[in-house]
Amino acid sequence: MGADRPAPVRSGPVTVTVPAPRPGPGSFPVGFVWGVATAAHQIEGGNVNNDWWAWEHDPGSPCAEPSGDACDSFHRWPEDLDLVAGLGLGAYRFSLEWSRIEPADGEFSRAALEHYRRICAGCADRGIQAAVTFHHFTLPRWLARRGGFEATDFPERFARYVRRAADHLGDLIDLGCTLNEPNILGLLGYRLGLFPPGVSDRTDRADGVGRSLVRAHRLAVEELRAGRAAFPVGVTVAMAEMVALPGGEEVAAAARNDLEDRFLAATAGDDFVGVQAYTRMRFGPDGLAPPEPGVAVTQMGYEFWPNAAAHAVRRAAEATGLPVVVTENGIATDDDARRIDYLHQALSGVARCLADGVDVRGYVAWSLLDNFEWTYGFGPTFGLFSVDRRTFERRAKPSAAWYGAVARANRLPGPSAAPGGDGQSS
Ligand code: GCO
Repeated sequence: MGADRPAPVRSGPVTVTVPAPRPGPGSFPVGFVWGVATAAHQIEGGNVNNDWWAWEHDPGSPCAEPSGDACDSFHRWPEDLDLVAGLGLGAYRFSLEWSRIEPADGEFSRAALEHYRRICAGCADRGIQAAVTFHHFTLPRWLARRGGFEATDFPERFARYVRRAADHLGDLIDLGCTLNEPNILGLLGYRLGLFPPGVSDRTDRADGVGRSLVRAHRLAVEELRAGRAAFPVGVTVAMAEMVALPGGEEVAAAARNDLEDRFLAATAGDDFVGVQAYTRMRFGPDGLAPPEPGVAVTQMGYEFWPNAAAHAVRRAAEATGLPVVVTENGIATDDDARRIDYLHQALSGVARCLADGVDVRGYVAWSLLDNFEWTYGFGPTFGLFSVDRRTFERRAKPSAAWYGAVARANRLPGPSAAPGGDGQSS
């Protein structure tokens, strides 16, 4: 594969992205897609019928606070789309809330599907591609009660929901992500107890969950292709720049295999692979090591490591042979100049991937809004826009204008784009 002759993908606007000739330093090919992402439960508010709502309100959970009204995007989505369009971006990645679409087993809500249809149409009206994620972490309560990802028929239930949603919305979807980060759901929910169902288990439950999610993805892709969906389909994988400290080689190799490779392998037959990377992870002989002294940490407590995006892009491209879309990348910080610095360095790395012939079709920043960061609540701020927690007023941060200008110019400004820049943290 290479930028001169990218592997063809099935259809939709992403397919017409032909990244040739190779761009110069800091510039991006014609048709490169610039986007920004959110997820339903993190912004909609009032998602009372999913497992996360129950988890947030469980006094035994480690959640900092409940999602509540979040950003009230369930009602304010037109305003959100205006923000995306106002920046001059070409794509909006958002997710469908399964618990609204299928509030009870086999009972589908036409009203909920129509709601999401209006959002997809709103994207089209504004000239924005709709990049739709079918599952971004939350499960309907009825399914969680039946065992969630461990329910024997979870993959079939998921594929049924995806098919139904795509039958209703597919003509307005430009890019489809079946599952968001299936590779960390087992770890967070079944080993670390940070996500529902809050299990901290040393046996193989997390592995079983991983296998079930891989099967769910494959079934969903089959269903989509059997149905009316004509958009490119893939899955998003959480990745990191995983490095071994002396003596940590085996641990790092095992982590790469368990957390990334098994899931990258599951993309065979997809149209693209979605890569989401934020930081570096260092492994010593006893497991994950803390951030390196001297390297700045973000509000999430992990290293400021913008090179993670380029590292993940190269790794995913090599492992899968598929076109890559960076479906998430960004930083939690209250210092917006740091955000600009992070995005600039991360994008410099992506530009170098392109210059080296890696087939990257687009970049989607996380996130449009400061939103509900799962177990951490509203503390970490990833947004290009802040949200007043009382009035829901959205306010642009300087990084929003900066990112919009980069997208419109299709190139990076200034010295970080120079060839040879290391794209790494200070
Ligand atoms: C994830 C999700 C997003 C997060 C983002 C920042 O990676 O956990 O896709 O929902 O909010 O990554 O942590």
